[in-house]
Amino acid sequence: MSDQALLTTLVVGSGGREHTLATACAASPLVNRVIAAPGNPGIALDCECASIAADDIEGLVEFAKNESVDFVIVGPEVPLCLGLVDRLNENGILAYGPKADGARFEGSKTYTKELLLKYNIPTGAAAYFDDSEAAIEYLETASFPIVVKADGLAAGKGVIIAEDYQTARDTVSDMIDGGAFGESSQRVLIEECLFGEETSIHAIVSGKDYVILPASQDHKQVYEGDKGPNTGGMGAYSPADLIDEAMMERIEREIVKPSVEGIAAEGIDFRGTLFIGLMMTDSGPKVLEYNTRFGDPETQVLITRLETDPVAIMVAAAKGELSDVDVKVKNEYAMVVVLASDGYPNSYPKGEEISLPENIGDNEYIFHAGTRSGENGAILTNGGRVLGVTALGADLQEAADKAYALCGKIDFKSRYFRRDIGAKELSRA
Ligand code: AMP
Ligand code: GLY
Repeated sequence: MSDQALLTTLVVGSGGREHTLATACAASPLVNRVIAAPGNPGIALDCECASIAADDIEGLVEFAKNESVDFVIVGPEVPLCLGLVDRLNENGILAYGPKADGARFEGSKTYTKELLLKYNIPTGAAAYFDDSEAAIEYLETASFPIVVKADGLAAGKGVIIAEDYQTARDTVSDMIDGGAFGESSQRVLIEECLFGEETSIHAIVSGKDYVILPASQDHKQVYEGDKGPNTGGMGAYSPADLIDEAMMERIEREIVKPSVEGIAAEGIDFRGTLFIGLMMTDSGPKVLEYNTRFGDPETQVLITRLETDPVAIMVAAAKGELSDVDVKVKNEYAMVVVLASDGYPNSYPKGEEISLPENIGDNEYIFHAGTRSGENGAILTNGGRVLGVTALGADLQEAADKAYALCGKIDFKSRYFRRDIGAKELSRA
């Protein structure tokens, strides 16, 4: 390929997911310039960062035009829902991620539920309400626990598992009447509580074509043993051997294929990641939600395992040429352990200096999420999830040993992390 054909690529976002994607861009033979907006200090080690917020749609479009960006990878859901990809495409710029019509599956849980029911895709029974009185009447005859969800985006906080009637009733009132999540909770979905182990299934979709990446498992709760409040994710590993080949075929047949076909049948040309959250119940896999972007921290263990250039896959998906790509995955296992600030997902300190090792091994990565630059080259904590410490190994135990050894070489005052990422899987081995 001649130099002319190399891509100037813009990664939108600033978390661990975007650091992973920017790292893949920097390593891609298809790319000659990588810019992240707004990026973070980890990304800035290898790539340019432009201080434009991920939700500043017109700012990003202007920047992409001015810098002759060829290809944009959109990390988070908010710009997707705000129509960033629509606006980029209108300006002739290729982008990976669905347009607003596709991102609506993440932006509205009731919209997704309707699609799931229409196409007979297994999911929990549910009803939705715009009116708290009707919702409370419904709860009077419901069984508990039950799940109350804000319909719209709520930064991962809009799902409450209510153990009893009173909690469910209070949650509904808070959401609809109290405006707990503003517009996002004017409508609530009340859903049957499903039991089992959760799995993240990521499909790279381009219209009716799709490629399913290996299963991964996130650890949502903040404390060991899956206790405490839900977070954005405290660690993940892939592949998740809970999903064997036969189960993956079932998931494809019952869930992924009808999802992709259903979305296409609704007239939506979806080009991006369809990340399906599944509960593996006694009666089989059931859909908890669709996300329309890569998971964070799942990206850290999915993208690092790809043998095929991730940029080549995403460009092909964006162009509608996904069927031309043969996606190969490495045999190694990957694990990411999130180093968080103690107190997350509630309040936590910021601005603590982080000590980082000078060198790290092959197949080891320290992905930045909530960090900022301080004086004299210092890196400071700046968020709840601070770093995603990632390692690949011949098996899950080796990946875990390497990731945890690397965690031990990183320090900041309020460092907190779960020591049991992958423990359930390892105890099955
Ligand atoms: P969601 O954003 O819909 O995936 O929900 C966030 C988290 O809440 C999920 O990852 C599950 O841990 C939990 N959750 C959501 N829906 C249900 C359900 N119907 N039954 C049990 N847990 C659920
Ligand atoms: N790790 C879950 C998410 O990205 O939504």
